[in-house]
Amino acid sequence: MSADRPGVSIAAARRDDLPGIMGLEVAGFTPSEQWSERSWQGELLGDGRTTLLARRHVPVGVIALQTVADVADLHRLVVSPRHRRQGVGAALVVAGLTAVRHAGARSVMLEVAWDNDPAIALYQWLGFEQLTARDDYYGPGRHALILRLWDLPAWSPPDHAPPTKETA
Ligand SMILES: CC(C)(COP(=O)(O)OP(=O)(O)OC[C@H]1O[C@@H](n2cnc3c(N)ncnc32)[C@H](O)[C@@H]1OP(=O)(O)O)[C@@H](O)C(=O)NCCC(=O)NCCS
Repeated sequence: MSADRPGVSIAAARRDDLPGIMGLEVAGFTPSEQWSERSWQGELLGDGRTTLLARRHVPVGVIALQTVADVADLHRLVVSPRHRRQGVGAALVVAGLTAVRHAGARSVMLEVAWDNDPAIALYQWLGFEQLTARDDYYGPGRHALILRLWDLPAWSPPDHAPPTKETA
């Protein structure tokens, strides 16, 4: 599957994309938040997984989802710091939701740190609503919000989506 946009291509990640994905992981998260290679191998090889890589010549973002029956879980999303606010995160989520809808998902869940304003803004803009909160989910004092996109079959991307801007 691929979704081409000006300057960025999004396609299914392969096993040999693991080094590029780990580069995004290290650049995009603090050490205590980073996933291991083994965790990412699970996303690349596990059942029901949808892992998409955005490239602008080099990897610039990645999203990982898992579909079980008719519910998809958005496990991970990260965009390279120098490529943020250019529509890459939105393009990845739109491509991911489209892919899991084809895989049979009817709703999508995710957890996000309650103080992660960029991610919460992105998800809410794309149609996710807060379902509940979980205290200390990521450790003491590090609470999570559980967001859900309820009706994936009826969902469509916002028509005021920010364009993916060219940097090259
Ligand atoms: C969250 C993240 C993936 C967003 O990626 P991105 O490519 O910068 O997002 P986009 O450019 O597609 O943003 C789309 C919209 O989301 C909202 N948004 C994104 N980043 C924002 C920010 N820092 N502040 C406020 N709103 C923001 C805006 O509405 C934005 O549209 P605009 O730029 O026209 O205002 C990125 O900041 C990231 O990788 N963060 C670190 C990893 C992380 O927190 N992942 C999510 C874990 S659940």
